[in-house]
Amino acid sequence: MSKQSLVWIGKWTFILAAAGSAVGLGNIWGFPYKAGTNGGGAFVLIYLFCILIIGLPIMMAEIMIGRSSQKSPVNAMRLSAEKSDQSPSWRFVGWGGLISGLLILSFYSVLAGICLDYIFISGTDSGGMSTTEKFASQTASVSKLLFWHTAFILMNIIIIGAGVVSGIERIVRLLMPMLFVLMIVMVVNSIINGDFARGLSFLFAPNFSDVTPATFLSAMGQAFFSLSLGMGSIMCYGAYMPKDENVFNTSLTVCGLDTLIAIMAGLAIFPIIFAYGLEPDAGPSLVFISLLSVFWDMPFGNFIGPVFFILLSVAALSSSISLLEPSVAFLSEEKIFSRKSASIILGLIAWFLGIGSLLSFNLWSEVNIIGDLNFLNSMDFLANQFLMPLGGMFVAIFAGWFLSTKIIKEELEPGQKKIFIVWRFFIKFISPTLVALIFINQLFFS
Ligand code: PHE
Repeated sequence: MSKQSLVWIGKWTFILAAAGSAVGLGNIWGFPYKAGTNGGGAFVLIYLFCILIIGLPIMMAEIMIGRSSQKSPVNAMRLSAEKSDQSPSWRFVGWGGLISGLLILSFYSVLAGICLDYIFISGTDSGGMSTTEKFASQTASVSKLLFWHTAFILMNIIIIGAGVVSGIERIVRLLMPMLFVLMIVMVVNSIINGDFARGLSFLFAPNFSDVTPATFLSAMGQAFFSLSLGMGSIMCYGAYMPKDENVFNTSLTVCGLDTLIAIMAGLAIFPIIFAYGLEPDAGPSLVFISLLSVFWDMPFGNFIGPVFFILLSVAALSSSISLLEPSVAFLSEEKIFSRKSASIILGLIAWFLGIGSLLSFNLWSEVNIIGDLNFLNSMDFLANQFLMPLGGMFVAIFAGWFLSTKIIKEELEPGQKKIFIVWRFFIKFISPTLVALIFINQLFFS
């Protein structure tokens, strides 16, 4: 076996980095508000089903493709296609990923910036404003949003510029344990101060009368986004995974951690929302408006509030670095730029694009780009509902039908014959069909 060029040093690093990518705003902000607007338990059940049926097989495929070629997604797709006697044009799947990574980073950073700002807002008094007024006044200020957006992009540039081991590996080893501890503080807080029984039954007692085809699609899209699939982040991190680590076990662990954190976020939020007589279905403003009003009200809220928003920011940062890494890895691997210059240039591109999303909260709130969607929602739509499902579907089709069995067998350790058979079946037939269904449905019927 050839020596791997660039590898994570610590045994747990792949899991920490991939879980860091997966666990993000999607879990702590997106999952609770989507569960809240889709009737709770039934949504959660369908979501779990999607993680297992669609997410896990595609995650395994991305890791195999990345690790077998040890290159960034564009070259990983090209090389593994060539080694399987297929056309090198499969590299366009990698290109799609690079573009979606930058698009997502651009608006993700604006949202993460608001979380950073809220660390301070939740720690201070209301000053006589309602939380709705507070949110409106914060997002009306272009300079405030710009300040936090810039700060967040800068952190990404610094970490990614420092390198895979001294940047990403070092930071995820710090951030992920921190995230877990903060999350436990939040759940304990919710057990003490919240209506925990009601929160539990909201999340776990499925009421199928609430389920519509849209619930199914929203849960599938959420599972996809949450696992960071279809745009190269996991493939890129997989390229740095040591050869002696087991693809199935690590993928299962990452999917498990991602789900665990999403559920814990639900358990941290809903019991206190219920205890304070608020509704779970506020939508995207659930944490910024409803939850903030609880923090402003409850004992030690000025401490618990910042803990929650630090948690959100930490989760966002460990995700956003995985959005920037694939394209930076590509430019430096092709020797077009050094890693540092590539991080600066690509970070600046995402920063610049992010200004459009930032203005969607104020000056451009009436400016529609795609259909009746403003700039931020258009970016979100393009990436999440178009490029990511499309990328995921192509990865599944490629891995299921074109990737050579020799490569797959090398990657899925010997002795895992049953896993090979089951995975092969899912990646060939089930995952691409289901993703195609989400894709077509979201595109044409939403
Ligand atoms: N998975 C991240 C989240 O849940 C978002 C993300 C998507 C990160 C794609 C990287 C790649 O917030």
